Amino acid sequence: MKNIQISPSILSADFSQLGAEIKRLENGGADMIHVDVMDGHFVPNLTIGPPVIKALRKHSSLKFDVHLMISPVHQYIEAYANAGADIITIHPEATQNLRESINTIKDLKKKVGVSLNPESKIELITEFLAHIDLVLIMSVNPGFGGQKFMPEVLNKIKQLKKIQQEKNLSFDIEIDGGINFENCKIAIDAGANILVSGTTIFKSNGGDIKKNINLLKLK
Ligand code: DX5
Ligand code: ZN
Repeated sequence: MKNIQISPSILSADFSQLGAEIKRLENGGADMIHVDVMDGHFVPNLTIGPPVIKALRKHSSLKFDVHLMISPVHQYIEAYANAGADIITIHPEATQNLRESINTIKDLKKKVGVSLNPESKIELITEFLAHIDLVLIMSVNPGFGGQKFMPEVLNKIKQLKKIQQEKNLSFDIEIDGGINFENCKIAIDAGANILVSGTTIFKSNGGDIKKNINLLKLK
């Protein structure tokens, strides 16, 4: 049984103080930092790119869990690796050749994740599960923080868990979008071992990050 890890999304942080905000997350007990990269094309929002990740790198020793919601993604992978990403997660719909993109991330000695939007089927990635480190299941349509959790994606997590056990695979299962104190337990019980959360961590309990992270870990 894997330990439950929390990957706070900086999409809900104060963008004018991102260095201090990731320090606050580290001091609050975050296991890694979820960096939502958006290009205004794959998703209808635009956030940050490699220069910002490079600038943030010195402010935390935590792993940067970089979620690339960009398309086309392949030609940008190296830039995010060089900027300091530790985990690089891509969407299968954003690359012409998922196998090639996965291999590129691994050749750069980074952990590789693949993300499925709520409408995307597991069949898109089953042949790659033995070659990746993480599957990121979106529980909202990507693009914005603060959206409503979509419980129907829990079936995908249960399906993934079953495949993982049948094939004795060890990829992490991360869930991302609308995670809060009410639904974190059902997400964990379904099989997620990494929870992404932005709004709940930064906005609940007067922004008490340590308290909010522990509550999500069911502590
Ligand atoms: C949405 C992002 C999520 C989102 C999570 O496209 O991928 O990481 O920021 O934020 P909350 O927890 O506010 O839904
Ligand atoms: Zn994300």
